[in-house]
Formats: sequence, C-alpha cells, structure tokens
Amino acid sequence: MRFPDSFLDEIRDRVPISSVIGQRVAWDRKKTNASRGDYWACCPFHGEKSPSFHCEDRKGRYHCFGCSVSGDHFKFLTELDGIGFPEAVEKIADMAGVPMPARDPESEKREKQRATLHDVMELATRFFQEQLQAASGARARAYLRDRGLTSVTIQKFRLGYAPDNRNALKEYLAGKGVEKSQLEACGLVVFGDDIPVSYDRFRDRIIFPIEDTRGRVVAFGGRALSSEVSAKYLNSPETELFHKGNLLYNFAKARNSANNGGAVVVVEGYMDVISLAQAGVDNAVAPLGTALTENQLELLWKISPEPIMCFDGDAAGSRAALRAIDVCFPKLKSGYSLKFAALPDGKDPDDLIKSVGRDAFYKHLGSAIPLHEFFILRRRQMGSDISPEQMAKAEMDLYADVDKIGDPTVKRYYRSHLRLRLYEMFGRTHRPPADVNARARLSLDKLGINRLQRILLGLCVEFPGLLTDYVEQLTALEFSNSEFQLFAKELHRLYVEYSDLTVAAVYERIDKRFVFVLEAIHGSEKIIKTRENRHGTFYEYQVTRGHKLRTLFPMLRFEPPYETIKQTLEHLFLEIEVRQFRDHCLSVAHELDQAGFESIQRQLDAIEAARAESELELDQEYQALAGRHQFLAA
Ligand code: UTP
Ligand code: MN
Repeated sequence: MRFPDSFLDEIRDRVPISSVIGQRVAWDRKKTNASRGDYWACCPFHGEKSPSFHCEDRKGRYHCFGCSVSGDHFKFLTELDGIGFPEAVEKIADMAGVPMPARDPESEKREKQRATLHDVMELATRFFQEQLQAASGARARAYLRDRGLTSVTIQKFRLGYAPDNRNALKEYLAGKGVEKSQLEACGLVVFGDDIPVSYDRFRDRIIFPIEDTRGRVVAFGGRALSSEVSAKYLNSPETELFHKGNLLYNFAKARNSANNGGAVVVVEGYMDVISLAQAGVDNAVAPLGTALTENQLELLWKISPEPIMCFDGDAAGSRAALRAIDVCFPKLKSGYSLKFAALPDGKDPDDLIKSVGRDAFYKHLGSAIPLHEFFILRRRQMGSDISPEQMAKAEMDLYADVDKIGDPTVKRYYRSHLRLRLYEMFGRTHRPPADVNARARLSLDKLGINRLQRILLGLCVEFPGLLTDYVEQLTALEFSNSEFQLFAKELHRLYVEYSDLTVAAVYERIDKRFVFVLEAIHGSEKIIKTRENRHGTFYEYQVTRGHKLRTLFPMLRFEPPYETIKQTLEHLFLEIEVRQFRDHCLSVAHELDQAGFESIQRQLDAIEAARAESELELDQEYQALAGRHQFLAA
C-alpha cells in the first residue's frame, strides 16, 4: 500500500534516527555528542575499525564517509535488514507508538481475519512444541536426538510433535476459543463434505513450523517418524496465509545472516537447513517440497545477488538444479545471478556437514560453478570424439537457452560469452592459418572515435534493415559532432516514413542537407565506363555506392553475413560507450573520494573487459570469414 507522506513524516519525526540505528551499532564514545543529537559509529554497511558512519537526529539522516551510503530511517532498515519498505514503516510506526493508517474497511476486515489466523497458527505451534516435551513425545525426542539435533536447535526452529490422535489439536484449540472455520482456514484439520467429523491433519509426526518472510508461522511440515508411513512429509495445504511457491523455509533467519555478508545457500530439505544452522551455517533456505519458483528466486535476490544452489548429489538433485536454470534465465537481470554447488555422490548437505564439518562445507560452496558456466556444462557432450553434428546440436541448444534471457543487456553478454566458450570447446582445431589472422585483425580499439561513428552510421545506410532493431539505440547515442547526431535523426525519419528502406532509397529520399555526410560515411561515385559499338564509342555512367564505407571498414570485403553485421554494430555501440565512459571517469575522478574512485574504476574495468571479450569474438568471426574468402578465391 501507499502511505500518506504526512504519516511517514510524523513517525520519522517522533523517532530519533539514532534510536533506530542505535539498535544495530555501538556508538563511538569519543566522537559522539549525544546532547546535540550527533552520533558516530563504525559503519554497519562496510567493515571498518575507525568510525566514519555519522547520523544526526536533527536531520533524521545518516551518512558514511567511508562507503558513502546514506538515507533515512526507512532506508536504514530496508538496506541493512533487507526488509521491504512497508515492513520498515511498520517497525518505525511501532517504535513511534503510532497506529498504522486505516485502510478501506474491506481490506481491514481481511487483515483482521488474517491476524487471527496468525494467532491460531501461533497457538498450534506452541501446542506442538509442548507435545514434543510431554510424555507422548518421547519417541519423537529420541528420533531428533538420533538425528543429532540439540535442544537449542529444536528451540530455535520451534520443532514440535503432533501426537497420534485425531482430535488432540482440534480440542486444544477449541478450548482456546478457536472456531471451526478458523481451524479449517489454517489447514490444520482435514474436512470436507464427505467427511462427517473433521480431524487433525498432522498425526504422529515431527512438526516443522514454516515461517513467512516476517517470521510468523504460516504453515507446517510434518515428518513421519518411521519409514513405513506412506508420505515421508506431509505439508499444510495452500491457505490464506500460505502460498508455498512464494516462500522459502528459514527465509527470515537467513535474511539476517545474509546481511552479515554470507551469500544465501539454497538446499532441498528442512533437515538440511536445520543441520547446517546447527553447524553454524545460518544462511540456508529451502523451497517447500516443490521445484524453485520465479517468486522464490526474486525473494532470494532480495537478500543476495548470487545465491548458491546446493542440490543433492543424486539424480533428483541434478534435475532440480537444471530446473532452476530454466526458471532463472527469463528473470536474469544485470547484477544478479546464481551459482551451483554440486555435492559428492548421493550426499545431501545434512550428511555432508555432519561428516566433514563446516569448513569443508564452505569449501564446497567456494567452488560453486557460476550460472554462465553451469548452463554450458549441462549441454556439453563430453569426450573428444564429438561429431560435427553433435557440436551443431550443442551450439543450437545453447543459443536457444540464451535466447530465453529476458534482459537484453544480459543476453548480449551471455551471447558473447557463449561464442567465446564454443570457440574454446570446439573451435581450436579449425582456427584459420596464421597469415590470414594477421591480415584480418579487426582492432577497432585502435580507431579514433570519429571513424567509429562513421562506420556505425555507414553500416546503417548500407544495411537499413539494422534500423528495425537499433534505431532507438542509434538516436540515443551521443555523437561527438552535431552533424552525425542530426544524420542519425534523419535516418530515423526515413525509417519511420518508408517501410522497406533500401540503400538506393536512402540516397533518393534523404534531405539534401545531409548529402555531404552521406558521402563521407558511405559514399557514392560515378564510374565512367566506355563501350564500343559499331557506330563508334559512347559513354556509360555507373554509380557504385558504399566505397567510402568499405575504405573505412575493410572487413566488408569478406562479405560478412547479416548476423555478423549486427554483431559488428553492437560492438561499435559498446566500443563508443567505453570511450564515453572512460572520458566521464576522467572528468569526475578529481571529485571522488577513495571509495567512489574505486567503485568507478571497477565499473570501468568491467566494461573494458566486456569490450575486449566482444572484440575478440568478433575478430574470430572475421578471421574465419577471411579464411573462407581466401579459400574461395583460390
Ligand atoms: P528430502 O527427502 O531430501 O527431505 O526431501 P529432508 O528434509 O532431507 O528430510 P530427511 O533428511 O529425510 O528427514 C526434501 C524436501 O522435499 C519435501 C520436503 O520439503 C523436504 O524437506 N518433501 C519430501 C515433501 O514435501 N514430501 C515428501 O514426501 C518428501
Ligand atoms: Mn535428508
């Protein structure tokens, strides 16, 4: 919901920002001047030994002079705890003692109902916890002890026991005034038209309470005590409170520990999560008996940019990992990914951490394979005797995978990464001969910015079809001179006004003011040919176009296919972008502090690395074309 600004202001004013932050940091005694509302501490957002994190009650804001984070009450909570904005507002409102603003009556009613359902779930959780400690819970206690769980862990995860009785929970909750309809809405009883008397859903099972993102119990998982029972786990059905595809087991606890720097780890089962936590790995979560969903992926990305998928080392585990790739690709966005840690044969994290301990487990995580390698590995046909047909199949499948990526920028980098990897895997043996290499080197990085822009525009004239995909990017580009800028606009106009634009049409229809730019980037020349006939000699003019472009970009003589032309254009955009970003860095460098400078340096390194990779890949394309050209010419 949207909160009225007046409400946000009111609670911000009532709660000094230092009391929000003071719950999370220890103030530095020397630098702090509490009477003036002026506080200093070591920054909770980056590790440091001397305090450069500052907050001022009067302004209601914080700022770190080390890592330059800044913000207000809400931002502090959303950034540090990874919670959502509404949740942060609620916390501050709580501290301020101000009730949350009223909503419309309908949603308020629903909210109330939901609140009472939460109360019911809480009562049930306590009941199960008590039962575990009661006489009837002896077998369950023994079971958990055999599995190595300590009583601290049992408390922490609020594990319980549902007695072997059709009415125990039902009667207990009825005694607390819980209505039948509430029991049903919470999924705690089995009921229906064909069932005369509803009865407890969970019987003779270990109970694992499942919490929502705010740590409230919304469902239960129940594990059978013996292997004779048909369903090993029985889970709550979908209810008003519980949508299993939108939640992860242990998310609320993992969020806190992921915020302390660890990447979140995704495992398959409740028991995996719990044993890991007992061994000191607090940031594990598990989907709830289904394959990972898109919503769960979004949840993971809220607390960790690169969650580590840790699936069991068996067939089911590897199927689950593969499913995760398919869910992930359409959702990929810049800065977010996944990693995959394969566990040794047949082991799950629960076995593994018990046998090798925490450090060895971290080692496994450390060698997790990033998504961009993992998706290739799964398609890769092993062995050296792979046939050309198999290579072709692998290549097609891989490009089809990449095509599922929704984000265009990520997709572009995945394509270039894939080209390079395919070349490494299959291409080594048919690299063109050395002399061709030497002649076909692309080296666009050696060209001046002006020439790059001329080639870019020239290609758009020579292949007007490019405008379909790139006209926006073209007009958005900041050219280094206004003639080029206007020329790009003119191309845009032509593209909009005439469908099926051809080179000839560009020459015919372009506004006269642009003819000289056209000549400079593309070029047409009249060639006079002589021909003799019986009556003597006469002249014939012939116009050839694009000779200028061919001089600017000689690679065209190898007759690149359209795909390569597109790739060339994309590379030119990237090349120009790198130059502009480098200039930008130079111009702002003197204003930056150390952290800012390092950050911009990192960005520059990354984009330059991407550029180099893209150029290498394009270069290989042209080398291959040159080789073929030479072969055909011979
Ligand atoms: P596992 O069989 O790996 O369970 O199933 P686990 O958590 O490791 O439990 P232990 O070690 O056998 O006690 C993984 C997850 O799949 C779901 C549960 O969420 C479980 O944690 N599951 C499994 C079910 O929902 N129903 C089942 O019958 C089995
Ligand atoms: Mn297990």
